[in-house]
Amino acid sequence: MNVPLLDLHAQYEQIKPEVKTAIDVVLESQSFIMGSTVKRFEAEISNYCNAEHAFGCASGSDALLLALMAIDIKPGEYVITTPFTFFATAGAISRVGAIPVFADIEPNSFNIDPSEIEKILSGEHPVASRLGVDPKKVRAIIPVHLYGQMADMNPIMDLAKRYKLYVIEDAAQAIGSKYDGKQAGEFGDFGCFSFFPSKNLGAYGDGGLITVKDPDLAKKADILRTHGARPKYHNIYVGMNSRLDAMQAAILSVKLPYLNEWSEKRREAAEKYNLLFTESGYITDIPDCCTTCEALGKEPCDLPSNRLVLPKEQTGAPANNGKHIYHQYTIRVKNRDEIMKKLQKKSIGSAVYYPVPMHEQQCYAEIGFESHDFPKSVCAANQALSLPIYPEISEDQQEYVVSTLTKILSEYA
Ligand SMILES: Cc1ncc(COP(=O)(O)O)c(C=O)c1O
Repeated sequence: MNVPLLDLHAQYEQIKPEVKTAIDVVLESQSFIMGSTVKRFEAEISNYCNAEHAFGCASGSDALLLALMAIDIKPGEYVITTPFTFFATAGAISRVGAIPVFADIEPNSFNIDPSEIEKILSGEHPVASRLGVDPKKVRAIIPVHLYGQMADMNPIMDLAKRYKLYVIEDAAQAIGSKYDGKQAGEFGDFGCFSFFPSKNLGAYGDGGLITVKDPDLAKKADILRTHGARPKYHNIYVGMNSRLDAMQAAILSVKLPYLNEWSEKRREAAEKYNLLFTESGYITDIPDCCTTCEALGKEPCDLPSNRLVLPKEQTGAPANNGKHIYHQYTIRVKNRDEIMKKLQKKSIGSAVYYPVPMHEQQCYAEIGFESHDFPKSVCAANQALSLPIYPEISEDQQEYVVSTLTKILSEYA
């Protein structure tokens, strides 16, 4: 049996005639940039996301950049985010000349820990203090809703209010997820979404979207994505060329009505994995060293080599009025890289999101971070392993993943 990490063919088969018709309509119109197809999709998605304003752009990375440009972040100012994310989150901060300040994660959810953010803002975070971060120069927080489960937004919004900071939600992996009854992107000043093909709502190329609360900032973000010009050729701002093209918008309009059903199927697949792994007896709780250790990697790590830690639904649990949309189903295992290779040999795809936390990236060496500055992120980067999940995954495939992985684990002492 072959179980890819993601099977886009299975989804395409389901919607092929609709997609082809939608592409044909765009081809017949010969209107490819902005225009009515993009406007229609923007209206549909603002309705879906409960957003006041929504603008398509070229990628999720650009959505983050547009948000930071709209609030006019200046060189030397700081933006707080998580070290355990895709590079685009931190990269956008640096590209506007600002400096990323990292707050470690809460290990069960892999998301930024609000109490770590508070330490930075109150001047009590040892790393931020060592690096000379002036809390008064912090302008914004970018929580990332990793793997499709939202960050703990209520305390984050409280802090933002108290310290007068913008909140830019990196919802690239979380379209349609919920926290306390509200959708991803509904909390912050901005919501940034990605339509990278592997995302839950994926285009057939790059694409992104920014949602904005404030009407003036919305107008600015809209202008910024078309070079900062309004009207054309009259540049109010130094903007960029970042638009969602009509072909991608047409494809996304076909897919959007299926999104909730697909998310439900992902949730069902996650539940099935949880059940099968629990029945296998190979699971364990996250060891204390991952939740409390203040030193890098605490050797030896207490996670037994023949056990795995299941993903935890926290903010995303229905009992908390939440919804985890399982963009990824991510477990923790000790001998992660070796296990990945063994799965590959058995034709099972898996992936590491992400192997190197932001503070350990070479491009940030000059900031002066040390590896042990964010031990929980380092630990997650060593242990996280994402298993195949997509709406069309079959029970047989899931059973094969579970039996193969538990057999691999059984070979460790
Ligand atoms: C957390 C996160 N932020 C930002 C991005 C950037 O999105 P894109 O690839 O559309 O630029 C991604 C997607 O890869 C992501 O996963």
